[in-house]
Amino acid sequence: MVRSALLNVMIAAARKAARTLKRDFGEVEHLQVSMKGPANFVTAADKRAEEILRAELLKARPGYGFLGEEGGRREGTDQTHTWIVDPLDGTTNFLHGIPQFAISIGLERSGTIVAGVIYNPANDELYTAERGKGAFLNDQRLRVAARKQLAEAVIACGLPHYGRGDLALGNRELAAVQDKVAGLRRFGAASLDLAFLAAGRFDGYWERNLSPWDMAAGLLMVREAGGFVTDLDGGDAMFTKGHIVAGNETMHPELLKLLKAAGKD
Ligand code: IPD
Ligand code: CA
Ligand code: CA
Repeated sequence: MVRSALLNVMIAAARKAARTLKRDFGEVEHLQVSMKGPANFVTAADKRAEEILRAELLKARPGYGFLGEEGGRREGTDQTHTWIVDPLDGTTNFLHGIPQFAISIGLERSGTIVAGVIYNPANDELYTAERGKGAFLNDQRLRVAARKQLAEAVIACGLPHYGRGDLALGNRELAAVQDKVAGLRRFGAASLDLAFLAAGRFDGYWERNLSPWDMAAGLLMVREAGGFVTDLDGGDAMFTKGHIVAGNETMHPELLKLLKAAGKD
């Protein structure tokens, strides 16, 4: 498969950062973590991965801005391009030895995400997308699932948890969706939830309290696989509002309707 120079840069950066993440994950799995405890160890792994990604991406595109979860925003000389990076999405999974985590890299050009790479080092699944050129899992072209009945749908979501989110609202939303669908899933890595949706594994997905780096690459993945992505008000303000709903042309509006009704209570 022939990939663009841009995607090759992103993939090379992801694979390089993945080598250290994978080694660190191996240590977490075998509990060979530092005296300061696993949480500190994982924070250090996270920061190391972001440093590698930043160095590699800026080496290839020196003027671009960079927005990373760990280091925040750094302006570039090129005001039109920004890398949006989560070096480790699914930190809680990582910390618990659960192999559902990913490096997520999005490229924003003048307010639009134009390229995305999501890579899970634990199973070597590499998701790539470029605007107008489709989405891929390794070399295989992706297409969202065609299912049209909520009753057949597997829907992914995020859940409020300790220190995060509105529990009452989260419970209303769950109640609105739960008994209408074949199953709900909470896998714990937003980028992979979106990638799984693009791959037709999930039929829909929603979550609140997200940041741009959780969604940037994944939302392009879904759109390039023929799916629909909006905020929970049906608009395009996912990054500023921090919420997202996604699905195919049937599931997206169905979910949006259910969630809107639950949000009004
Ligand atoms: C988190 C994951 C998780 C989502 C959280 C995110 P992190 O990112 O994507 O699935 O529910 O809201 O913050 O902290 O593991 O990078
Ligand atoms: Ca994240
Ligand atoms: Ca993270």
